[in-house]
Order: sequence, then structure tokens, then C-alpha cells
Amino acid sequence: MTAIVLYESMFGNTREIARAIGDGLSDFVDVQVKPVSAGAELADHELVVVGAPTHAHTLPQPSSREDAAKWAADPEQHLVLEPDAFKPGVREWLESLSTAPTAWAAFGTRVDIPRIFAGDASAGIERRMRHQLHSRPVAESACFLVTTKNALVDGELDRAREWGRSLGQAVTTRQPAR
Ligand SMILES: Cc1cc2nc3c(=O)[nH]c(=O)nc-3n(C[C@H](O)[C@H](O)[C@H](O)COP(=O)(O)O)c2cc1C
Repeated sequence: MTAIVLYESMFGNTREIARAIGDGLSDFVDVQVKPVSAGAELADHELVVVGAPTHAHTLPQPSSREDAAKWAADPEQHLVLEPDAFKPGVREWLESLSTAPTAWAAFGTRVDIPRIFAGDASAGIERRMRHQLHSRPVAESACFLVTTKNALVDGELDRAREWGRSLGQAVTTRQPAR
């Protein structure tokens, strides 16, 4: 059984979370972790996990990616843009799908403030899959936290690894994921 973790990332945090989810999944299935812009043959994978950073409460779009580049241009922010930052991201990938993957789960990253103020990119992924492609996830979405200075909050990589493990267990044993 194989799984693929597809991500979009401006500053690297969502990439690191994607890799940790992949680590957790790899206890159960063969797994690849790739930027969503690299493309993937979804039919080759029994599980597709997809994630993005939260921008303006939801999925990044071209204007918010431009804003991210402006943040990174300020040397005081100490942010480095990912090589794929301006390539089409998860929003565009979702728009290109005519059917949902057979089994999928969504994750996001967002700032560590109450969700009601932060929004959540994973909810944007779920909305598109559920309401337009009429498909339900194999597990509840997960959102991982960064500080207001765009560093991963302590413990989030472990939590991502654990979420990946629970997804792997869910798809291989058909148990509900935690
Ligand atoms: C233009 C822009 C808008 C953002 N808007 C939000 C937001 O509405 N809510 C939130 O929690 N975080 C917001 N953030 C913070 C991002 O969620 C955070 O930078 C991201 O999770 C880090 O992931 P990355 O390193 O993979 O880009 C925003 C960041 C940028 C650059």
C-alpha cells in the first residue's frame, strides 16, 4: 500500500510538518512527500494527504503568496521563501480535480491563537472535497501551530508524526483515525 503527502509551503513549516506526517505514515505504508506543484499520479496511491498554510483564514492564493514574499523581503523577519512558493498550490490543485482521491485527509498550519481568529487552511481543503467533490476524509483534519514569528511550536512535529501514524493505522486496519 502506498501513500502520498502533498503540501504547499511559503516558509518551510508546512513542509516540515508534511515530512513528519510522512515519517509517521511510513511505519505502515510506503510513502512519498512532495510539494503539490511537483504533480502526482493520484491513482498510484491508496491514501492522499494534503496540507497548506493558513492565509487570510483559508487557503493561500496568488495575492497572499505575494504578501508572504513581502514578509520574507524584510530582513528583520528572518524568513526564507521556499523554492516552490510561487508555483500553483493546494487551492489550484483542488480546482484541477474532477474527482476526489479514494482515501484522503487534510492538514494545515496556522498561528497559535484561537481557531476562531486564525481560520484554518485544512477546512478549505475539506470544504472543496466534501461539497464540490462529494467525498469524506478518512480522518478528522489536523492543524499544526506556528508562533507569531513563524516558527513551529514545540511538540508540533511529534504531534504530526503521531497523526501520520494514526492515519497509517486507519488505512491499513480500517480503524477510525484519532
Ligand atoms: C499573507 C499571510 C496571511 C496569513 N494569514 C493567516 C491567518 O489568517 N491565520 C493564521 O492563523 N495564520 C496566518 N498566517 C500565518 C501562516 O499560517 C503561517 O505563516 C504558516 O502556517 C507557516 O507555514 P509555512 O512556513 O509553510 O508557510 C498568514 C501568513 C501569511 C504570509
